[in-house]
Amino acid sequence: MNLILLGPPGAGKGTQAKFICKKYDIPHISTGEMFRKNIAEKTYLGMLVKEYTDKGNLVPDHITIKIVDERIRETDCKKGFLLDGFPRTITQAEALDTLLKKYNLVINRVLFIAVSNEVVIERNVGRRVCSSCGASFHIRFNPSRLLNKCDYCLGELTQREDDTISALNNRLAVYKLQTKPLIAYYRSNKLLSKIDGACSAEIVFQNIETALGHY
Ligand code: AP5
Ligand code: MG
Repeated sequence: MNLILLGPPGAGKGTQAKFICKKYDIPHISTGEMFRKNIAEKTYLGMLVKEYTDKGNLVPDHITIKIVDERIRETDCKKGFLLDGFPRTITQAEALDTLLKKYNLVINRVLFIAVSNEVVIERNVGRRVCSSCGASFHIRFNPSRLLNKCDYCLGELTQREDDTISALNNRLAVYKLQTKPLIAYYRSNKLLSKIDGACSAEIVFQNIETALGHY
C-alpha cells in the first residue's frame, strides 16, 4: 500500500505516520526528517537546505524530488511506503505521478489531516524534540516523563528551528499558497480522504483506519 499524508504544519502527520507504518508495516518517508537528519550530520545536502528549512520556506522542487526518487527505489519500499510532507507543490505532485508511472506504482490513498490554524499554532509552539534520537513530544498533549529529557534515550529536548512564531507564520503562508492546492488535485483523482485532526492522536488514528478500510 502506497500512501500520502497531507496537512498543514503540525497537523500531526509525523505522529500518525508512526501509527500507520507500524500497523501496515511500511517505511515512513518524511522529507522534513530527511532534511533535518542531513542538517544535523552537516552533509552537503544539509548545508544546501538549511537556509530554507530554518525560515520555513520550501526546499527547491528539484532537490526534493530527487531525494524522494532515490528513496522510493530502495528495497524496503517494495512492500509499500508512506510519504509524509511530500508532495507539497503541484510540480512535486506531477513529478511524483511521472515517477510512479515509470516504476509501475500507484498511490492508494491520500490522507488529508485537517486542523484549524489555532490548533496548528498550539501544537507547533508546544512541540519538543529530542536532540539525540529525534523523538517528538508536546509540553501539554504528550509530555515527557522527566522535564526536558527524552523518555527513550534521556537526550535533551529542544524546540525545532522552524517552530519559532516567525518561521511558523511563514510555514502557514507557504502551506496556504503552495500546498493547499493539492487538496483539489487529489480530490479530483478520487484519492483524497479528509480526516478530522482536531481530536486526540488515538481517535485521529481510528479515523484513518476507517478511511483505509479493507487495506
Ligand atoms: P516537515 O518536517 O514536513 O514539517 P511540517 O509539514 O511543517 O510538519 P511538522 O513536522 O511540523 O508537523 P506534523 O504534521 O508532522 O506534526 P507532528 O506529528 O510533529 O517539513 C519541515 C521543512 O522541511 C519545511 O518547512 C520545508 O522547509 C522542508 N520540506 C519538507 N518537505 C518538503 C517538500 N516536500 N518540499 C519542499 N520542502 C520541504 O505534531 C506536532 C505536535 O503536535 C507534536 O508535539 C505532537 O506531539 C502534537 N500532536 C500531534 N497530534 C496530536 C493530537 N491529535 N492531539 C494533540 N497533540 C498532537
Ligand atoms: Mg512532521
